[in-house]
Amino acid sequence: MSLLRADLPALKNKDYFNYGGQGPLPQCSLKAITKSWETIQELGPFTNDVWPFISNEIKKTKGIIADLCGVQDRRIALTENVTSGCVLPLWGLSFSKGDRLLISNCEHPGVVSACKELARRQSLEIDILDVLSLRNGIDNEIGTQTEVMGVIERSLKERTKLVVLSHLLWNTGQIMPIESIAELLLNHPSQPFFLVDAAQSFCQIPVRESASKVDIYAFTGHKWGFGPEGLGAVVLSERILEEAQPTLVGWKSLTNESSIYSNDINTFHKDARRFEIATSCTPLLAGLRSSLSLLKKQGTDLERINIIKSYSNKLWLELKGIGSITPILQGPPPAGLVSFTLNSKLSPYQIVKLLGKKSIFIRVLEDPIWLRACVHITSNESEINRLIDELKKIAAS
Ligand SMILES: Cc1ncc(COP(=O)(O)O)c(C=O)c1O
Repeated sequence: MSLLRADLPALKNKDYFNYGGQGPLPQCSLKAITKSWETIQELGPFTNDVWPFISNEIKKTKGIIADLCGVQDRRIALTENVTSGCVLPLWGLSFSKGDRLLISNCEHPGVVSACKELARRQSLEIDILDVLSLRNGIDNEIGTQTEVMGVIERSLKERTKLVVLSHLLWNTGQIMPIESIAELLLNHPSQPFFLVDAAQSFCQIPVRESASKVDIYAFTGHKWGFGPEGLGAVVLSERILEEAQPTLVGWKSLTNESSIYSNDINTFHKDARRFEIATSCTPLLAGLRSSLSLLKKQGTDLERINIIKSYSNKLWLELKGIGSITPILQGPPPAGLVSFTLNSKLSPYQIVKLLGKKSIFIRVLEDPIWLRACVHITSNESEINRLIDELKKIAAS
């Protein structure tokens, strides 16, 4: 891991715990982006010669993402970020007045507000799914799974037409049993669509089984994937491809630009490209591929999450040992997100600022107001020790 760490300029001058916000970009991926940009200038930028290069970049990138997610390329749309991956297909669905959306109480504000706006536009009702209270960590995983399934079953109503839940909850750090929920929804009489925010799961925990079984599985490369910001993807089910209309329409959504004035209204791609829009930043594709290949070299999904867990469990245990700190999870974390509260005369915002002055970076979560420190395969024991030492000082002050 030290080789990978050595290729991350962002980690040279700080102790970094904000992987859940944004991961650092390796030097080699930055070089891949620059090289791709140079190639585009040499071949193009707008010439016959540049198009095969650009389509091949897209094809190669989608191929890798499709493979990671266990689906065919046709089910992958490239996006700019997690939020657009959720919103573009979601807003293309049409519901009937009075239909219900079941949204977990651990979703990101952008996704929640997109659901609320959808509900306002289509006169839908929103129900809240309580997963915030599930705090077992890896202790009693079966128990947690049973509790999640139970709360979903109890919350589903006759007219529930959509369930929104993150794979790995960004605030508590608890993992949701997406595959089992997908099966439950498939067999439910109202057959709700299942939207999964995969911002924190993609490249952190194994995603293949879940991504291939839900309707909308949206993620970005710039968090746990060490990719550049501005490039993400969404995996869509065949049902979404059949039933959702594009939300933002552009030339990339079209099968044929030349027949655009004809009366044939069905001109959108039948595959996930119907949710792609127009010109985007091609060089980022090379950057993401470079980072994903680097990640693959660090071990299998399982090997990597085990390394992450060894760091997060150490951090959780050390935090638990500090009197005025309460980790949010009662048992060790199942992944790399470690949230906690610190009872101090300083506010969480002041604590984050104070740590930042020592070049240690964690964040405040807004709702509930908690502190969150994330660890990744590039973390190490000494930076965790430094964070703990500084938190002990704050706790004692
Ligand atoms: C769970 C979750 N969803 C969505 C987002 C928003 O990501 P993006 O800016 O890529 O849309 C974040 C960002 O932190 C997140 O943690």
